[in-house]
Amino acid sequence: MNSPAEPAFLRAAYAIEDHAAAVAGLHAALDAAFDACTTPADPSQCPAFARGMRGALAVALAEPAIILAGQREGSSERYRRHVIAADPAGRYTVAALVWQPGQASPIHAHHTWCGFTVLEGTLTETLYSWEATRGGANAVRDHLRAPGTVSFVGSGCRSGSGHGGIHRLSNDSHAKAVSLHVYGVDAERIATHVNDVLPLATPAPCAVREVNGDARAHDVSPRIARA
Ligand SMILES: [Fe+2]
Repeated sequence: MNSPAEPAFLRAAYAIEDHAAAVAGLHAALDAAFDACTTPADPSQCPAFARGMRGALAVALAEPAIILAGQREGSSERYRRHVIAADPAGRYTVAALVWQPGQASPIHAHHTWCGFTVLEGTLTETLYSWEATRGGANAVRDHLRAPGTVSFVGSGCRSGSGHGGIHRLSNDSHAKAVSLHVYGVDAERIATHVNDVLPLATPAPCAVREVNGDARAHDVSPRIARA
C-alpha cells in the first residue's frame, strides 16, 4: 500500500490502518474459537477451542502489521510486554513480548489458558516437572521455538501430585526475539492472574563420595539456575 517515496505521516497512517485491520482479523479468529467452544466454563478443555486458538495465532503470523514498530521495542531491564488487543467482553488479552538477549520469564505454571507464537528471533522453552518432595520445579528438557512456532496450553492445575504445564521462556540467542501471546484474562489482570510463579526445586543429594577421607553428601546443581 505504501512506498518509501510517500511522506512519513502517510506511511504512519497506512501502518496504523493495516495494524487495525490485522487486529480486527485476529479478533474475528479468536471470537470464532470461542463460538466453537463447548466448555465455556473452561474453554481450554475443549479441543475445538484449542484448534481455533492455534488457527488464530496462525492468522496473526500471516499479518506482519499485527505489531506496530513501537510495540517491537524492548527494555534493558527485563522482557517487555505490549498489550496489542483486548476482548471487549473480557475473555482474552493479546500481548507482544519483546525479549532482549539473555532475558527470561520466571519459571511458572498458568492460572489461565495461554497460546503463543514466535514472530521474530528464537526463544528457548524449558519444560519442568513438579517435584513436591523437593519443593519446586525440576527442568526436564528444552525446546527451541523458532518463528512460526504455535503453542497452546490449558489452565495449569494444582493437583494432589503438583502443578501441570510448568515452563519458562528465555532468549538464549544473540538477537532480539518477539512473541505474541493470547491469555484468557481481561487486560487489567494480565500482570497478576496469568503466571503462577514457582520456585526451582532444591538440589537433590544423589551420591556420597570420599573427600579428604570424609564421607560428604554431593549435591547436583540444578541444570537451570536462573530465575
Ligand atoms: Fe507461560
